[in-house]
Amino acid sequence: MVGPVTPLYTEEDIRARIQILADAIAKDLPPDMMIVALLRGSFVFAADLIRALHARGARPQIDFMTLGSYGEGMQSSGQVTIYRDLSDTVQGRDVLIVDDILESGRTLSFARGLIAERGAKSLKIAVLLEKPGKRKTAINADFVGFVIPDKFVVGYGLDHANFYRELPFIGVVGE
Ligand code: IMP
Ligand code: MG
Repeated sequence: MVGPVTPLYTEEDIRARIQILADAIAKDLPPDMMIVALLRGSFVFAADLIRALHARGARPQIDFMTLGSYGEGMQSSGQVTIYRDLSDTVQGRDVLIVDDILESGRTLSFARGLIAERGAKSLKIAVLLEKPGKRKTAINADFVGFVIPDKFVVGYGLDHANFYRELPFIGVVGE
């Protein structure tokens, strides 16, 4: 089940890239932004990103929403489900949605629609990874860590069948 993983981005690559992302986000959003991290995949990225934002003067509030479309496999089912909703209101807030990876765009389109509908004042999206050429909906992230090849990646919060999330690096299973 849990096979070897070939690194694509090392811990150091990720750390350096997050500093640059945090610079851009801190310039663009107000210090009292509200961060909505999409679980489960974004929890490691969000944890590092908020501390990099802190170093740049941000004092965000953080909330979480668990969304899913994948089931156990490597192919999206296409249907987005809310497994756990936000605890707080986004009404009138400058929201930064944080996710692990933008692929078809269904998850982020769904989250963006929901948060806009609930009255967010502004809405930006940060993703650690983006797979180009896979988009099924018209959506783009405002802040992107790495544009990656069309391969299934794991680690640094990303999983396959809920394994590999603990890896400190991002890699490809079995290459
Ligand atoms: P989308 O809705 O197709 O854009 O997919 C987004 C979600 O699918 C992400 O939040 C991930 O949880 C998952 N996902 C997409 N590609 C990968 C991958 O290569 N590895 C692990 N999870 C992925
Ligand atoms: Mg996810």
